[in-house]
Amino acid sequence: MTDTAPERRRLAAQLVEGGALKTPEWRAAVETVPRELFLHPGVFLPEGPLWRPVTAVGSDPAEWVRTAYTLDTLTTQLDGHLTADQVSEPVPGLPTSSSTMPALVVSMLESLDVEDGHRVLEIGTGTGYSGALMCHRLGQDNVTTVEVDPEVAARADAALEAAGFSTWTVTGDGLLGHPRRAPYDRLIATCLVRRIPYTWVQQTKPGGIILATLGSWANGCGLAKVTVNEDGTAEGRIIGKASFMQARSQATTPVSGDLSARAAYADSERQTKVSPLMMDEWMPAFITQLAAPGAQLVRARTSEGGQLLYLFDPERESFAEFIDDGESWRVRQGGPATLWDDVEESLVAWQVAGSPDITSVRLHVTKHGHTYWIGGQQITTRTSSHWLSDGSALRWQHSLVDRP
Ligand SMILES: C[S@@+](CC[C@H](N)C(=O)[O-])C[C@H]1O[C@@H](n2cnc3c(N)ncnc32)[C@H](O)[C@@H]1O
Repeated sequence: MTDTAPERRRLAAQLVEGGALKTPEWRAAVETVPRELFLHPGVFLPEGPLWRPVTAVGSDPAEWVRTAYTLDTLTTQLDGHLTADQVSEPVPGLPTSSSTMPALVVSMLESLDVEDGHRVLEIGTGTGYSGALMCHRLGQDNVTTVEVDPEVAARADAALEAAGFSTWTVTGDGLLGHPRRAPYDRLIATCLVRRIPYTWVQQTKPGGIILATLGSWANGCGLAKVTVNEDGTAEGRIIGKASFMQARSQATTPVSGDLSARAAYADSERQTKVSPLMMDEWMPAFITQLAAPGAQLVRARTSEGGQLLYLFDPERESFAEFIDDGESWRVRQGGPATLWDDVEESLVAWQVAGSPDITSVRLHVTKHGHTYWIGGQQITTRTSSHWLSDGSALRWQHSLVDRP
């Protein structure tokens, strides 16, 4: 077997240079854990719209090592079942498991602010690579990792063993956490969630940190870092942009079929105040999801090749259709939710506030829902320090309906 110590050292140096890797403890982990052990039986590399399978067996060893130590995300499963050893030609498909790009893995681990002896719960084991870095840093008994896909979990478990870590690899839906080993000092999710499940708050110690990427649009998600309070709430802010594959039970079913039929009956039509193309940018896309959770941005073409742009909320049976008038845009809205009215109000307020970046967003998580806001006033009490929103349009409340 090829000794990959030089590649690991080079990867660590690149991550230090890029600013993702900061502390000696995580550097030692990156320099020690062989990433190639976690890529069996192989990976899919992008080739135009297709995925080219590359397996360890049958590849030139030097080429395989180069692939393993790329700075890119390496897709390891397509469509919830396909692995690279099952096909020989490039195939279409949707990535459903991967070894995330090392810079994102490591910068998230750095943001977890772990200390020796901390117990961590990871949601989204994937290949097991990030779990192995944590085992190196904190010890195998302090790491529990949950993976929803049994085959992925089994491969990760074997890879962790091969790397010398007998950790707790659990197969299950990580949205439920893993109560049997709770409470945890830290919880990290490497799949995308619509909101922080309250079970995660319940299973994290007061003072503990939860790090998870929130949203459902690939180019408009926020990495949330919240601290759990004594009173069973959690609060914090969005610390940056990040994107992952969606948690399986929350994966969006793309709106398809006859879009013009869905948008046939509008309740109102008017000019927009801002361009809907703003939603192509990251922060406006994040704000759109706060203002209209559940909405999807859909692009299509008419049979004559004209561009179509919509917001659809399938659950609320509502739509906004945007019509390009050349100089300006018109919007037709239909259904019980006035999607664009809500989104536009937030986008205008955000612009008036000086278009602050995503790290200006704060959030408060309770059993009953999430509150997000930008701006406001900091209040310090005996048990916590939190921000009070000023009640402006830059405040979004996502309530949960209690089960009867
Ligand atoms: C981007 S990969 C994880 C990367 C991984 N941490 C690594 O270093 O290789 C996301 C993983 O989350 C898993 N996943 C998706 N939804 C999940 C859920 N609800 N609970 C647990 N795992 C989930 C997927 O099956 C996938 O393997």
